[in-house]
Amino acid sequence: MITTTTTAARARDLAVRVAGANHSRRLYGVRGRAWARTLEALHAALNTHFEEEGHREVTVGLLGEGLAVLGVPIHDPPSSVVRFMSKLVERDVEIIVIRPGVTSAELETLLSYLGADSADVAAVKADIWLRERGVEHISVKHLRLMTKEGSESFRDVYFRGKRVLQREFSRAGHGGSVSPAAVGDLAKSLMEVILEAETPVATLLALKDRDDFSLVHSVNVATLAGSQAGALGLPEPDVQAIVSAALTHDIGKTKVPEAILTKGAPLTDKERDLLAHHTVDGARILLETPGNDALASIVALRHHDDFVPGSPGLCAVELCKLADAFDVIRSLRPFDDAASMRGAVAYMVRKLRARFNPYLLQRFGALVNIAPPATLVALSSGEIAEVVEPHLELSLHPIVRVTETRRGRWPVGQTIDLSVDMNVLAVPAIPTAMRDLDPSEIDDLG
Ligand SMILES: [Fe+2]
Ligand SMILES: [Fe+2]
Repeated sequence: MITTTTTAARARDLAVRVAGANHSRRLYGVRGRAWARTLEALHAALNTHFEEEGHREVTVGLLGEGLAVLGVPIHDPPSSVVRFMSKLVERDVEIIVIRPGVTSAELETLLSYLGADSADVAAVKADIWLRERGVEHISVKHLRLMTKEGSESFRDVYFRGKRVLQREFSRAGHGGSVSPAAVGDLAKSLMEVILEAETPVATLLALKDRDDFSLVHSVNVATLAGSQAGALGLPEPDVQAIVSAALTHDIGKTKVPEAILTKGAPLTDKERDLLAHHTVDGARILLETPGNDALASIVALRHHDDFVPGSPGLCAVELCKLADAFDVIRSLRPFDDAASMRGAVAYMVRKLRARFNPYLLQRFGALVNIAPPATLVALSSGEIAEVVEPHLELSLHPIVRVTETRRGRWPVGQTIDLSVDMNVLAVPAIPTAMRDLDPSEIDDLG
């Protein structure tokens, strides 16, 4: 997985500035000049970031034992950052999302929430606290489920997931089978947090790290497949079966030579053939596992197949394929903002469409809100248009207004409901950072 130095350096800089402002507020009080200066510096750094990168948000969140900014883990954090993390833990805040337009006053309010006496803010949800004080450009996520005593936060499940899968992957590599009970338990916990937390997909995905690609990838694919299944309204046992199958979809990679899995350069044809075998190996491992659900073997076997028009297809396979490609794009071009998330789906629509069930691809687009109002989209009939109203289910068929018509058939200014003319698709552009991605790179990791 690639993280550019610029992103890593910027993430570290922002982490140090946020933590520094937090620290100096405590140390010098809100009347001190030092505090005003650190706050202004943080505000300026955020604005520079929004302007230069065009990001729609900056996330600061807990990641396992550490802190991640812009989705990038901060290694060897300085002591101010460590203190800042313990403040977040104390307040039960897992992710802070800062958006363009944020003011110094809003940042000050956020830091005063983090710095307040526990007694003053106990039992007040940070989001409500901030909202009541007029903060509009910062939101705070508590992923812990408030409703159930003793239930796990998404973060806990995520990292437990990685550990459980590590054990199952090595069991499969050595003994050739997995423990259906362990995978089933994990799938159940994951499904519960996905369905009950009512957390947007973007927030679930803000958690990521760069180690152990196969494990992190498997948990991500399971989370995304579960979110899609939940959004489709499937019954819980089905959602759980899908999450479970997604967790082991790449288990066959335990039989692929390590050198191929970790090769930085494009694979040779021979290496690609060996890698492609992970589907068959995975299916065999799962079939040989006593008591395992056959669905898991089918998902492992078919998750790299193209979609066959007219075939009945299998929902679990199709949802995993979408989740798989999305997670790989995200690993190749690490991002954490909603615009890039939409861009990754635009990439899938434009470059990988033949692989996916067309209806589920549109639903996946709806899940990440692929084209909100005012998005510019290219119509397959040749026009450029602006989205007037998204379609909540068929996300590539919104209501649009034509803005440029040179190669199209509708005049500028015409409003068209594309859910009536189902032959025309509206697709946003692929972000610049993803334009050089080759579909074969996605196969090599998926
Ligand atoms: Fe995969
Ligand atoms: Fe795979």
